Amino acid sequence: MTESKRQKSGFVARLARWAINRTDFFYRQLRFFWPTPIFAWGGKTTAVVTRFDDVQEVLHELTTFRVPYAEKIKVMMGGGNVFLGKDDDPERADEKSLFYEIMPKEEAIDRAKPEVEALADEVVEAAGGRLDIAMQLTQDVTTRFFGRYFGLPGPDDTSTETYSDWARLLFEFQFVDRGNDPALRQRVDAVAATMRDYVDGAIAARKTAMGEHDDLLERCLQFQAAGRPLTDEQIRNNLIAFIVGGFPQPPMIIPQLFDVLLDRPVQLAIARGAAKDGDDERVANYVFEALRFFPLTPGLFRTCARPYTIAKGTRREKVIPEGATVFALTRSAMYDDRVLDRPAAFRVDRPWQHYMHFGWGPHLCFGVFVNRQMTPAICKAVLKRSNLRRARGDDGRLVHNGAFAKSLVVEYD
Ligand code: HEM
Repeated sequence: MTESKRQKSGFVARLARWAINRTDFFYRQLRFFWPTPIFAWGGKTTAVVTRFDDVQEVLHELTTFRVPYAEKIKVMMGGGNVFLGKDDDPERADEKSLFYEIMPKEEAIDRAKPEVEALADEVVEAAGGRLDIAMQLTQDVTTRFFGRYFGLPGPDDTSTETYSDWARLLFEFQFVDRGNDPALRQRVDAVAATMRDYVDGAIAARKTAMGEHDDLLERCLQFQAAGRPLTDEQIRNNLIAFIVGGFPQPPMIIPQLFDVLLDRPVQLAIARGAAKDGDDERVANYVFEALRFFPLTPGLFRTCARPYTIAKGTRREKVIPEGATVFALTRSAMYDDRVLDRPAAFRVDRPWQHYMHFGWGPHLCFGVFVNRQMTPAICKAVLKRSNLRRARGDDGRLVHNGAFAKSLVVEYD
């Protein structure tokens, strides 16, 4: 990168942080004066939900507030859908439960945590005192761990970087591209087809090698062989959904929460002490509280399927009209002082249910149990190094490429 580009990206990152800090002030005014603003513009209605209780109400009301994901899932999955894109479909809950049998919650601790810790330690050790937390550490560890765990390490002729780029492109299409960019769509069509071919090929190959692996793909095929309701297409589509959800997001949140910790010497010192002492619970508390100050997203979108009175029976109750786009501001909810104690303070004694980093309600992230282990496990590998600091100059500043963290370089002895 040239010097002028570096300066520019450093400036943009600082500007973004400045704007983000003001966002919380703005959200606070909304929560107080105008908790659910509804705007009508160009034939479209948008409702913005800001208070903790109301955000949870939206995320709970599955049959009224519909997820907007199915259309793009169909593009990626060649016409199919997965439980992320379903609402009142009676099979939705069964499908999610079935996949929790395939990826049991206990494995977050028994498998994800130790494997991720080992991979992260290996990368930090090999980096030799200077490390990019975004791509070099988190992207690499995430892609290798999930690749192995899912039984889909990527095509032989494709690098880890390319494989994770595919996942990031599909994630961008699914969750970021609200304007339906035609150029992005063209790239998505090609990458999604390649991804489907790869997973179809892996399923076919594994059917001739059953019993030789211990990963999600093997378990899917064992369940299928045992007569459980699971077609090849469902296996393929759900595993692709896990790749698209699983690979890109740890590299989005971990650099962001590190950016917060590196600006807070007191909290950083305590988190580092906990990492050195192997106090994993304390590390996790610091990590998820830091993330509250710079979360993945301001909120989650839904579409209102019928007129609905939010916060019914309170002075702020309001009717959200049918067809409205609803933006449930999880970021604002995590600062609502009607529920959170002193939300502007960095506190590590908050109950877990005050965090909405991984969504809330019936669409709560399928990977939440793994995320709660792997996020601190990756951070711990860095935190426990001596004399941890930002790299000098703009390398030590968090740089984004659109919604995605691109680099944040730290140094240690
Ligand atoms: C840091 C990592 C992650 C973050 C921040 C994250 C975030 C989220 C959020 C916010 C939602 C809720 C979306 C909504 O309600 O509109 C969600 C849902 C989901 N996530 Fe994650 N996720 C992460 C990792 C993963 C992983 C590792 C997997 C797969 C193993 C995964 C699979 C899913 C699936 C399948 C859903 C849909 C759940 C449902 O509809 O019932 N995610 N995630």
